[in-house]
Amino acid sequence: MRIISTKNYNEASARAADLIAAQILVKPDSVLGLATGSTPIGTYKELVKKYNNSELSFSEVSTINLDEYVGLGHDDEQSYYHFMMENLHNKTDIDKNNVYLPNGLAENIDDECIRYEELAEDLGIDIQLLGIGLNGHVGFNEPSDFIENYTYKVELTQSTIEANKRFFKKAEDVPKEAITMGIGTIMRAKKLVLLITGENKAEILDQALFGPITPQVPASLIRMHPDLTVIADNPALKLVSKII
Ligand code: GLP
Repeated sequence: MRIISTKNYNEASARAADLIAAQILVKPDSVLGLATGSTPIGTYKELVKKYNNSELSFSEVSTINLDEYVGLGHDDEQSYYHFMMENLHNKTDIDKNNVYLPNGLAENIDDECIRYEELAEDLGIDIQLLGIGLNGHVGFNEPSDFIENYTYKVELTQSTIEANKRFFKKAEDVPKEAITMGIGTIMRAKKLVLLITGENKAEILDQALFGPITPQVPASLIRMHPDLTVIADNPALKLVSKII
């Protein structure tokens, strides 16, 4: 595990974008594993900036996202599909046929999970960007006694519903289920980049990076990955100043 510490959110976003851009430069047809939430928005802005400055092209890139809410379609403003289009894909030259997210409206969600897992395997993720939930979730892998190896349907915890209600009109609108890559799916990516910013993530950062490796803190499991880069800003690192 490498830890890159940055002064603030903007610098963390720039560093994450540099890593993704480097991946695309060395392999123009890279497969990017992408994440949603507020944390990666700055990274996507930086990538769009690089595209606009002609430093980068997404024309041969494919992307596959970690997760999607069950019950939300592409047109739903709260869907992760919509989020990705708004924050990144509509602003680059990516071929939209190469953009993949789980289908939250699939008739049979279990079949959709199998289809998505096979897709992730066929594509082969070169670099996976990750955020972290306040309870330590990655993608939508919630704290649990078990490690899920493949894409699956998950019941969201109350704390995740609480944390994500800010994106919805009211808490009742937050879907109760999601399709998410399993920890195993994430671990099979060639490189992982975990982005952690803000003082409200300080406690969970400390647990995930320095506490016991346990499915009760799903992000702690990815420390077992041989190529993990953590990019964290100083507010998020405030409880671990000893390592800086
Ligand atoms: C959601 C996503 C996660 C993300 C998390 C944190 O639950 N499924 O992939 O890491 O939110 O979001 P934020 O970056 O807004 O704190």
